Amino acid sequence: MLEDSQAVLEIWGRSSLSGNVQISGAKNSALVLMAGSILCPGKCTLRNVPNLVDIKRMGQILEALGVKLKRQDDVIEIDATKINPTEAPYDVVSQLRASFFVIGPLLTRLGTARVPLPGGCAIGARPVDLHVRGLQAMGASVSIEDGVVHANLVGNKQRLQGGKIYLDYPSVGATETILMAATLAKGETKIENAAQEPEIVDLANFCNQMGAKVTGAGTNTITIQGVQELSSIEYNVIPDRIEAGTFLVAGAITKSEITLSSVIPEHLAPVIAKLNEIGCQIVIEDEAGKTFGGDIQSKRLRIVPGELCGTDIETLPYPGFPTDMQAQFTALLSISKGNSVISETVFENRLRHVAELQRMGTNIRVKGNHAIVQGVAMISGAPVMATDLRASAALVLAGLAAEGKTTVHGLQHLDRGYEDLESKLRGLGAKLERIIPEGT
Ligand code: EPZ
Repeated sequence: MLEDSQAVLEIWGRSSLSGNVQISGAKNSALVLMAGSILCPGKCTLRNVPNLVDIKRMGQILEALGVKLKRQDDVIEIDATKINPTEAPYDVVSQLRASFFVIGPLLTRLGTARVPLPGGCAIGARPVDLHVRGLQAMGASVSIEDGVVHANLVGNKQRLQGGKIYLDYPSVGATETILMAATLAKGETKIENAAQEPEIVDLANFCNQMGAKVTGAGTNTITIQGVQELSSIEYNVIPDRIEAGTFLVAGAITKSEITLSSVIPEHLAPVIAKLNEIGCQIVIEDEAGKTFGGDIQSKRLRIVPGELCGTDIETLPYPGFPTDMQAQFTALLSISKGNSVISETVFENRLRHVAELQRMGTNIRVKGNHAIVQGVAMISGAPVMATDLRASAALVLAGLAAEGKTTVHGLQHLDRGYEDLESKLRGLGAKLERIIPEGT
Protein backbone atom coordinates (compact mmCIF):
# COMPACT_ATOMS: atom_id res chain seq x y z
CA MET A 1 0.00 0.00 0.00
CA LEU A 2 1.82 3.15 -1.14
CA GLU A 3 1.22 6.78 -0.22
CA ASP A 4 -2.06 6.43 1.67
CA SER A 5 -1.91 9.77 3.43
CA GLN A 6 -5.64 9.64 4.31
CA ALA A 7 -5.60 6.05 5.53
CA VAL A 8 -5.24 5.16 9.20
CA LEU A 9 -4.02 2.06 10.99
CA GLU A 10 -6.38 0.70 13.65
CA ILE A 11 -4.50 -1.46 16.17
CA TRP A 12 -6.09 -3.57 18.93
CA GLY A 13 -3.44 -3.96 21.63
CA ARG A 14 -2.45 -6.60 24.18
CA SER A 15 -2.23 -9.39 21.62
CA SER A 16 0.82 -11.61 21.96
CA LEU A 17 2.74 -12.47 18.80
CA SER A 18 4.19 -15.74 17.54
CA GLY A 19 5.83 -17.17 14.44
CA ASN A 20 8.47 -15.94 11.99
CA VAL A 21 8.80 -12.73 9.95
CA GLN A 22 10.90 -12.34 6.79
CA ILE A 23 13.06 -9.20 6.90
CA SER A 24 13.26 -7.22 3.62
CA GLY A 25 16.27 -5.60 1.97
CA ALA A 26 17.69 -2.44 3.52
CA LYS A 27 16.02 0.80 2.40
CA ASN A 28 19.15 2.84 3.24
CA SER A 29 21.36 0.56 1.19
CA ALA A 30 19.04 0.06 -1.78
CA LEU A 31 18.64 3.85 -2.17
CA VAL A 32 22.37 4.57 -2.36
CA LEU A 33 23.04 1.50 -4.57
CA MET A 34 20.40 2.83 -6.99
CA ALA A 35 22.30 6.13 -7.11
CA GLY A 36 25.59 4.22 -7.43
CA SER A 37 24.29 2.35 -10.49
CA ILE A 38 24.68 5.65 -12.41
CA LEU A 39 28.46 5.09 -12.19
CA CYS A 40 28.20 2.20 -14.63
CA PRO A 41 27.56 2.84 -18.37
CA GLY A 42 25.51 -0.34 -18.60
CA LYS A 43 22.92 -2.45 -16.78
CA CYS A 44 23.05 -3.26 -13.06
CA THR A 45 20.61 -5.64 -11.37
CA LEU A 46 19.76 -5.14 -7.68
CA ARG A 47 18.07 -7.98 -5.78
CA ASN A 48 16.36 -7.98 -2.37
CA VAL A 49 15.07 -4.43 -2.98
CA PRO A 50 12.15 -3.54 -0.66
CA ASN A 51 8.89 -2.26 -2.16
CA LEU A 52 8.73 1.22 -0.58
CA VAL A 53 7.61 4.72 -1.52
CA ASP A 54 11.19 5.96 -1.12
CA ILE A 55 12.45 3.36 -3.61
CA LYS A 56 9.73 4.37 -6.07
CA ARG A 57 10.76 8.02 -5.70
CA MET A 58 14.45 7.24 -6.27
CA GLY A 59 13.38 5.41 -9.43
CA GLN A 60 11.58 8.58 -10.59
CA ILE A 61 14.76 10.61 -10.04
CA LEU A 62 16.86 8.16 -12.07
CA GLU A 63 14.31 8.05 -14.90
CA ALA A 64 14.34 11.87 -15.04
CA LEU A 65 18.09 11.59 -15.65
CA GLY A 66 17.56 9.23 -18.57
CA VAL A 67 18.10 5.95 -16.73
CA LYS A 68 15.90 3.02 -17.77
CA LEU A 69 14.43 0.94 -14.90
CA LYS A 70 12.53 -2.34 -14.83
CA ARG A 71 11.13 -3.68 -11.54
CA GLN A 72 9.93 -7.27 -11.04
CA ASP A 73 9.11 -8.21 -7.41
CA ASP A 74 12.24 -7.48 -5.34
CA VAL A 75 14.52 -7.14 -8.40
CA ILE A 76 15.30 -3.82 -10.11
CA GLU A 77 17.19 -3.71 -13.40
CA ILE A 78 18.86 -0.30 -13.86
CA ASP A 79 20.24 0.66 -17.29
CA ALA A 80 22.38 3.81 -17.00
CA THR A 81 24.04 3.44 -20.41
CA LYS A 82 22.71 6.84 -21.43
CA ILE A 83 22.26 9.55 -18.81
CA ASN A 84 21.85 13.28 -19.27
CA PRO A 85 22.77 16.02 -16.80
CA THR A 86 19.29 17.46 -16.61
CA GLU A 87 18.15 18.68 -13.23
CA ALA A 88 16.61 16.09 -10.92
CA PRO A 89 12.93 17.09 -10.37
CA TYR A 90 12.55 19.29 -7.24
CA ASP A 91 9.14 17.92 -6.29
CA VAL A 92 10.62 14.43 -5.89
CA VAL A 93 13.97 15.55 -4.43
CA SER A 94 12.14 17.57 -1.76
CA GLN A 95 10.36 14.40 -0.60
CA LEU A 96 13.36 12.11 -0.70
CA ARG A 97 16.56 13.41 0.81
CA ALA A 98 18.48 10.40 -0.44
CA SER A 99 17.96 11.60 -4.03
CA PHE A 100 20.76 14.07 -3.34
CA PHE A 101 23.09 11.06 -3.47
CA VAL A 102 23.01 11.18 -7.30
CA ILE A 103 25.27 14.26 -7.29
CA GLY A 104 28.53 12.34 -6.79
CA PRO A 105 27.93 9.71 -9.50
CA LEU A 106 26.62 12.32 -12.00
CA LEU A 107 29.59 14.62 -11.43
CA THR A 108 32.26 11.94 -11.66
CA ARG A 109 30.73 10.32 -14.74
CA LEU A 110 29.56 13.40 -16.72
CA GLY A 111 31.73 16.17 -15.26
CA THR A 112 28.61 18.13 -14.34
CA ALA A 113 25.58 17.78 -12.05
CA ARG A 114 22.57 19.89 -11.08
CA VAL A 115 20.63 18.63 -8.06
CA PRO A 116 18.08 20.62 -6.03
CA LEU A 117 18.97 21.08 -2.37
CA PRO A 118 16.98 18.38 -0.51
CA GLY A 119 15.98 20.76 2.26
CA GLY A 120 15.14 19.83 5.80
CA CYS A 121 12.52 17.40 7.04
CA ALA A 122 10.66 16.60 10.26
CA ILE A 123 13.79 15.45 12.12
CA GLY A 124 16.14 18.31 11.32
CA ALA A 125 17.70 20.86 8.97
CA ARG A 126 19.81 18.16 7.32
CA PRO A 127 22.36 20.34 5.51
CA VAL A 128 24.62 18.98 2.74
CA ASP A 129 27.70 21.12 3.47
CA LEU A 130 29.89 18.04 4.08
CA HIS A 131 28.88 16.56 0.71
CA VAL A 132 29.72 19.86 -1.04
CA ARG A 133 33.06 20.32 0.73
CA GLY A 134 34.04 16.76 -0.20
CA LEU A 135 33.35 17.36 -3.90
CA GLN A 136 35.22 20.68 -3.78
CA ALA A 137 38.22 18.88 -2.22
CA MET A 138 38.22 16.70 -5.36
CA GLY A 139 38.49 19.72 -7.65
CA ALA A 140 34.83 20.44 -8.40
CA SER A 141 33.44 23.96 -8.47
CA VAL A 142 30.15 23.92 -6.56
CA SER A 143 27.66 26.77 -6.34
CA ILE A 144 24.10 27.00 -5.06
CA GLU A 145 21.74 29.06 -7.19
CA ASP A 146 17.98 29.29 -6.54
CA GLY A 147 18.02 26.21 -4.32
CA VAL A 148 19.90 24.09 -6.87
CA VAL A 149 23.41 22.75 -6.34
CA HIS A 150 25.52 23.17 -9.51
CA ALA A 151 28.69 21.09 -9.56
CA ASN A 152 31.21 21.15 -12.42
CA LEU A 153 34.78 20.16 -13.18
CA VAL A 154 37.12 23.15 -13.27
CA GLY A 155 38.88 24.34 -16.45
CA ASN A 156 39.72 21.63 -18.93
CA LYS A 157 39.91 18.88 -16.31
CA GLN A 158 38.34 15.68 -17.68
CA ARG A 159 37.99 13.97 -14.31
CA LEU A 160 37.72 14.74 -10.61
CA GLN A 161 41.09 14.64 -8.83
CA GLY A 162 41.61 12.35 -5.84
CA GLY A 163 41.97 14.28 -2.60
CA LYS A 164 42.17 13.97 1.18
CA ILE A 165 38.95 14.78 3.02
CA TYR A 166 38.35 15.01 6.76
CA LEU A 167 34.64 14.92 7.65
CA ASP A 168 33.78 17.19 10.60
CA TYR A 169 30.99 14.69 11.36
CA PRO A 170 30.92 11.02 10.20
CA SER A 171 27.97 11.73 7.91
CA VAL A 172 26.54 8.63 6.19
CA GLY A 173 25.39 10.53 3.10
CA ALA A 174 28.52 12.63 2.74
CA THR A 175 30.72 9.51 3.04
CA GLU A 176 28.62 7.85 0.32
CA THR A 177 28.68 10.88 -2.00
CA ILE A 178 32.48 11.21 -1.76
CA LEU A 179 33.09 7.45 -2.02
CA MET A 180 31.04 7.20 -5.22
CA ALA A 181 32.60 10.32 -6.76
CA ALA A 182 36.09 9.00 -5.98
CA THR A 183 35.60 5.67 -7.78
CA LEU A 184 36.14 7.33 -11.19
CA ALA A 185 38.38 10.20 -10.06
CA LYS A 186 42.06 10.49 -11.08
CA GLY A 187 44.33 9.20 -8.31
CA GLU A 188 43.75 8.36 -4.66
CA THR A 189 41.03 9.74 -2.35
CA LYS A 190 41.16 9.32 1.42
CA ILE A 191 38.09 9.96 3.58
CA GLU A 192 38.95 10.45 7.25
CA ASN A 193 36.39 10.38 10.07
CA ALA A 194 34.22 8.46 7.60
CA ALA A 195 30.86 6.93 8.58
CA GLN A 196 31.12 3.20 9.37
CA GLU A 197 27.50 2.08 8.89
CA PRO A 198 26.84 -1.36 7.27
CA GLU A 199 25.24 0.48 4.33
CA ILE A 200 28.65 2.10 3.62
CA VAL A 201 30.26 -1.37 3.52
CA ASP A 202 27.46 -2.58 1.23
CA LEU A 203 28.11 0.37 -1.12
CA ALA A 204 31.87 -0.34 -1.12
CA ASN A 205 31.25 -4.04 -1.89
CA PHE A 206 28.85 -3.01 -4.69
CA CYS A 207 31.39 -0.57 -6.21
CA ASN A 208 34.28 -3.06 -5.89
CA GLN A 209 32.19 -5.73 -7.63
CA MET A 210 31.80 -3.18 -10.49
CA GLY A 211 35.60 -2.85 -10.63
CA ALA A 212 36.26 0.01 -8.21
CA LYS A 213 39.14 -0.02 -5.72
CA VAL A 214 37.72 0.85 -2.29
CA THR A 215 39.41 -0.24 0.93
CA GLY A 216 38.70 0.49 4.61
CA ALA A 217 34.90 0.67 4.37
CA GLY A 218 33.48 -0.04 7.85
CA THR A 219 36.38 1.80 9.50
CA ASN A 220 36.79 5.56 9.99
CA THR A 221 39.27 5.82 7.10
CA ILE A 222 38.27 4.84 3.56
CA THR A 223 40.74 4.88 0.64
CA ILE A 224 39.65 4.86 -3.00
CA GLN A 225 41.97 4.45 -6.00
CA GLY A 226 40.20 5.92 -9.03
CA VAL A 227 39.67 3.72 -12.12
CA GLN A 228 38.70 4.55 -15.71
CA GLU A 229 35.38 2.73 -15.95
CA LEU A 230 33.07 0.42 -14.02
CA SER A 231 31.09 -2.53 -15.37
CA SER A 232 27.65 -4.11 -15.00
CA ILE A 233 26.89 -6.46 -12.10
CA GLU A 234 24.09 -8.20 -10.20
CA TYR A 235 23.98 -7.49 -6.48
CA ASN A 236 22.04 -8.56 -3.36
CA VAL A 237 21.07 -5.66 -1.06
CA ILE A 238 21.84 -6.41 2.61
CA PRO A 239 18.91 -7.02 4.99
CA ASP A 240 17.34 -4.00 6.70
CA ARG A 241 18.84 -3.79 10.21
CA ILE A 242 16.31 -1.13 11.24
CA GLU A 243 13.30 -3.17 10.10
CA ALA A 244 14.82 -6.14 11.98
CA GLY A 245 15.36 -4.00 15.09
CA THR A 246 11.78 -2.76 14.86
CA PHE A 247 10.45 -6.34 14.85
CA LEU A 248 12.70 -7.31 17.78
CA VAL A 249 11.09 -4.45 19.72
CA ALA A 250 7.64 -5.73 18.61
CA GLY A 251 8.51 -9.05 20.31
CA ALA A 252 9.88 -7.34 23.43
CA ILE A 253 7.02 -4.84 23.86
CA THR A 254 4.33 -7.57 23.58
CA LYS A 255 6.38 -10.03 25.66
CA SER A 256 6.29 -12.49 22.73
CA GLU A 257 8.82 -15.00 21.42
CA ILE A 258 9.17 -14.52 17.64
CA THR A 259 11.83 -15.25 15.03
CA LEU A 260 13.19 -13.07 12.20
CA SER A 261 14.61 -14.58 8.97
CA SER A 262 17.35 -13.13 6.75
CA VAL A 263 19.16 -10.92 9.23
CA ILE A 264 22.87 -10.07 9.63
CA PRO A 265 23.30 -10.14 13.45
CA GLU A 266 26.56 -8.12 13.44
CA HIS A 267 24.62 -5.16 12.00
CA LEU A 268 22.36 -5.22 15.07
CA ALA A 269 25.05 -5.47 17.76
CA PRO A 270 24.13 -2.24 19.63
CA VAL A 271 20.40 -3.02 19.40
CA ILE A 272 20.89 -6.60 20.69
CA ALA A 273 23.11 -5.33 23.51
CA LYS A 274 20.40 -2.88 24.65
CA LEU A 275 17.65 -5.52 24.43
CA ASN A 276 19.82 -7.78 26.65
CA GLU A 277 20.22 -4.91 29.14
CA ILE A 278 16.44 -4.35 29.16
CA GLY A 279 15.87 -8.04 29.94
CA CYS A 280 15.37 -9.90 26.62
CA GLN A 281 17.49 -12.74 25.25
CA ILE A 282 18.37 -12.83 21.55
CA VAL A 283 19.33 -16.22 20.09
CA ILE A 284 21.21 -16.41 16.77
CA GLU A 285 20.27 -19.49 14.69
CA ASP A 286 21.62 -20.79 11.38
CA GLU A 287 19.27 -20.75 8.40
CA ALA A 288 19.44 -21.75 4.75
CA GLY A 289 19.68 -18.01 4.08
CA LYS A 290 21.02 -15.71 1.38
CA THR A 291 24.61 -14.62 0.69
CA PHE A 292 25.37 -10.92 0.59
CA GLY A 293 28.28 -8.69 -0.48
CA GLY A 294 31.51 -9.71 1.23
CA ASP A 295 30.19 -13.28 1.39
CA ILE A 296 28.11 -12.54 4.51
CA GLN A 297 25.56 -15.26 5.32
CA SER A 298 22.19 -14.27 6.78
CA LYS A 299 20.98 -15.79 10.06
CA ARG A 300 17.69 -16.21 11.93
CA LEU A 301 17.18 -14.26 15.18
CA ARG A 302 14.90 -15.42 18.01
CA ILE A 303 13.84 -13.00 20.74
CA VAL A 304 12.94 -14.52 24.11
CA PRO A 305 11.21 -11.76 26.14
CA GLY A 306 11.81 -11.15 29.85
CA GLU A 307 10.87 -8.71 32.61
CA LEU A 308 11.45 -5.28 31.03
CA CYS A 309 13.79 -2.99 33.03
CA GLY A 310 14.70 0.59 32.10
CA THR A 311 18.17 1.59 30.86
CA ASP A 312 19.88 4.62 29.28
CA ILE A 313 20.39 5.08 25.55
CA GLU A 314 22.53 7.58 23.63
CA THR A 315 22.26 7.61 19.83
CA LEU A 316 25.62 7.76 18.05
CA PRO A 317 27.11 7.11 14.62
CA TYR A 318 27.72 3.39 13.95
CA PRO A 319 28.86 1.25 15.77
CA GLY A 320 27.00 3.28 18.41
CA PHE A 321 23.27 2.90 19.04
CA PRO A 322 21.41 3.86 15.83
CA THR A 323 19.28 7.01 15.82
CA ASP A 324 16.84 5.15 13.54
CA MET A 325 15.98 2.85 16.48
CA GLN A 326 15.58 5.60 19.09
CA ALA A 327 11.82 6.15 18.71
CA GLN A 328 11.08 2.43 18.85
CA PHE A 329 13.12 2.04 22.07
CA THR A 330 11.43 5.09 23.59
CA ALA A 331 8.12 3.24 23.19
CA LEU A 332 9.61 0.06 24.70
CA LEU A 333 11.20 1.86 27.67
CA SER A 334 7.95 3.69 28.40
CA ILE A 335 6.51 0.39 29.71
CA SER A 336 9.80 -0.95 31.20
CA LYS A 337 10.21 -0.88 34.99
CA GLY A 338 12.17 2.05 36.43
CA ASN A 339 13.70 5.13 34.84
CA SER A 340 15.48 5.58 31.49
CA VAL A 341 17.23 8.55 29.88
CA ILE A 342 17.29 8.59 26.10
CA SER A 343 19.67 11.08 24.47
CA GLU A 344 19.31 11.87 20.76
CA THR A 345 22.69 13.23 19.61
CA VAL A 346 22.47 12.73 15.82
CA PHE A 347 19.42 14.81 14.79
CA GLU A 348 18.22 18.00 16.44
CA ASN A 349 14.49 17.32 16.28
CA ARG A 350 13.90 13.60 16.61
CA LEU A 351 11.84 13.40 19.82
CA ARG A 352 8.48 14.41 18.34
CA HIS A 353 7.00 10.95 18.93
CA VAL A 354 7.15 11.65 22.69
CA ALA A 355 4.14 14.00 22.60
CA GLU A 356 2.12 11.29 20.85
CA LEU A 357 3.29 8.59 23.27
CA GLN A 358 2.23 10.84 26.15
CA ARG A 359 -1.33 10.76 24.75
CA MET A 360 -1.23 7.02 25.41
CA GLY A 361 -0.48 7.47 29.11
CA THR A 362 3.31 7.19 29.11
CA ASN A 363 5.36 9.23 31.60
CA ILE A 364 8.08 10.93 29.55
CA ARG A 365 9.59 14.41 29.92
CA VAL A 366 11.65 16.05 27.17
CA LYS A 367 14.54 18.26 28.29
CA GLY A 368 16.63 19.48 25.34
CA ASN A 369 17.70 16.42 23.38
CA HIS A 370 16.92 14.06 26.25
CA ALA A 371 13.75 12.07 26.91
CA ILE A 372 13.43 11.18 30.61
CA VAL A 373 11.18 8.14 30.89
CA GLN A 374 9.49 6.73 33.97
CA GLY A 375 8.16 3.30 33.10
CA VAL A 376 4.42 2.72 33.61
CA ALA A 377 2.68 -0.62 33.99
CA MET A 378 0.13 -0.04 31.26
CA ILE A 379 -0.53 2.40 28.41
CA SER A 380 -3.87 2.92 26.71
CA GLY A 381 -4.82 3.13 23.05
CA ALA A 382 -5.56 6.57 21.55
CA PRO A 383 -5.68 8.38 18.19
CA VAL A 384 -2.07 9.45 17.43
CA MET A 385 -0.28 11.28 14.59
CA ALA A 386 2.96 10.04 13.04
CA THR A 387 5.48 12.82 12.39
CA ASP A 388 8.30 10.95 10.68
CA LEU A 389 9.24 7.47 9.51
CA ARG A 390 10.60 5.94 12.68
CA ALA A 391 8.14 7.80 14.94
CA SER A 392 5.31 6.10 13.03
CA ALA A 393 6.88 2.70 13.74
CA ALA A 394 7.17 3.60 17.44
CA LEU A 395 3.45 4.47 17.58
CA VAL A 396 2.51 1.14 15.97
CA LEU A 397 4.66 -0.70 18.53
CA ALA A 398 3.05 1.23 21.40
CA GLY A 399 -0.37 0.36 19.96
CA LEU A 400 0.51 -3.35 20.04
CA ALA A 401 1.19 -3.11 23.79
CA ALA A 402 -1.62 -0.70 24.75
CA GLU A 403 -4.97 -1.53 26.32
CA GLY A 404 -7.73 -0.94 23.74
CA LYS A 405 -7.60 0.63 20.28
CA THR A 406 -4.90 2.89 18.84
CA THR A 407 -5.50 4.76 15.57
CA VAL A 408 -2.28 5.82 13.84
CA HIS A 409 -2.67 8.74 11.39
CA GLY A 410 0.01 9.91 8.92
CA LEU A 411 0.72 6.54 7.30
CA GLN A 412 2.58 8.20 4.42
CA HIS A 413 5.56 8.27 6.78
CA LEU A 414 5.29 4.55 7.54
CA ASP A 415 5.00 3.52 3.88
CA ARG A 416 8.26 5.34 3.08
CA GLY A 417 10.33 2.88 5.08
CA TYR A 418 8.45 -0.31 5.95
CA GLU A 419 7.37 -2.87 3.39
CA ASP A 420 3.91 -4.28 4.23
CA LEU A 421 4.39 -3.66 7.97
CA GLU A 422 0.79 -4.44 8.82
CA SER A 423 0.64 -7.71 6.85
CA LYS A 424 3.92 -8.81 8.44
CA LEU A 425 2.59 -7.95 11.92
CA ARG A 426 -0.77 -9.67 11.15
CA GLY A 427 1.25 -12.72 10.11
CA LEU A 428 2.62 -12.76 13.66
CA GLY A 429 -0.88 -12.60 15.16
CA ALA A 430 -1.24 -8.86 15.72
CA LYS A 431 -4.75 -7.39 15.38
CA LEU A 432 -4.54 -4.34 13.12
CA GLU A 433 -6.13 -3.08 9.95
CA ARG A 434 -5.53 -0.23 7.48
CA ILE A 435 -8.77 1.78 7.12
CA ILE A 436 -9.12 3.89 3.98
CA PRO A 437 -11.82 6.55 4.53
CA GLU A 438 -14.71 6.56 2.02
CA GLY A 439 -14.12 8.52 -1.15
CA THR A 440 -10.33 8.62 -1.03
C1 EPZ B 1 21.26 8.55 6.69
O1 EPZ B 1 20.82 9.88 6.57
C2 EPZ B 1 19.99 7.71 6.72
N1 EPZ B 1 19.23 7.89 5.48
C3 EPZ B 1 19.11 8.12 7.91
O2 EPZ B 1 17.98 7.24 7.94
C4 EPZ B 1 19.91 7.93 9.20
O3 EPZ B 1 19.15 8.37 10.30
C5 EPZ B 1 21.22 8.74 9.12
O4 EPZ B 1 21.97 8.35 7.94
C6 EPZ B 1 22.10 8.54 10.33
O5 EPZ B 1 22.41 7.19 10.48
C7 EPZ B 1 19.66 7.24 4.35
O6 EPZ B 1 20.66 6.53 4.35
C8 EPZ B 1 18.84 7.45 3.13
P1 EPZ B 1 23.91 11.89 8.12
P2 EPZ B 1 21.91 11.05 6.26
O7 EPZ B 1 24.45 12.65 6.95
O8 EPZ B 1 22.97 10.54 5.36
C9 EPZ B 1 24.53 16.23 9.83
C10 EPZ B 1 15.71 6.66 8.17
O9 EPZ B 1 14.92 6.80 9.10
N2 EPZ B 1 25.06 16.57 8.49
O10 EPZ B 1 24.74 10.83 8.76
O11 EPZ B 1 21.17 12.26 5.87
C11 EPZ B 1 23.03 16.00 9.79
O12 EPZ B 1 22.34 17.24 9.88
C12 EPZ B 1 16.66 7.80 7.82
O13 EPZ B 1 15.84 5.62 7.48
C13 EPZ B 1 25.64 17.83 8.29
O14 EPZ B 1 25.70 18.64 9.22
O15 EPZ B 1 22.51 11.27 7.74
C14 EPZ B 1 22.78 15.12 10.99
O16 EPZ B 1 22.67 15.94 12.15
C15 EPZ B 1 16.43 9.03 8.68
N3 EPZ B 1 26.13 18.15 7.06
C16 EPZ B 1 24.07 14.29 11.08
O17 EPZ B 1 25.04 14.96 10.26
C17 EPZ B 1 26.08 17.27 6.01
O18 EPZ B 1 26.56 17.60 4.91
C18 EPZ B 1 23.88 12.87 10.55
O19 EPZ B 1 23.45 12.96 9.22
C19 EPZ B 1 25.48 16.00 6.24
C20 EPZ B 1 24.98 15.67 7.48
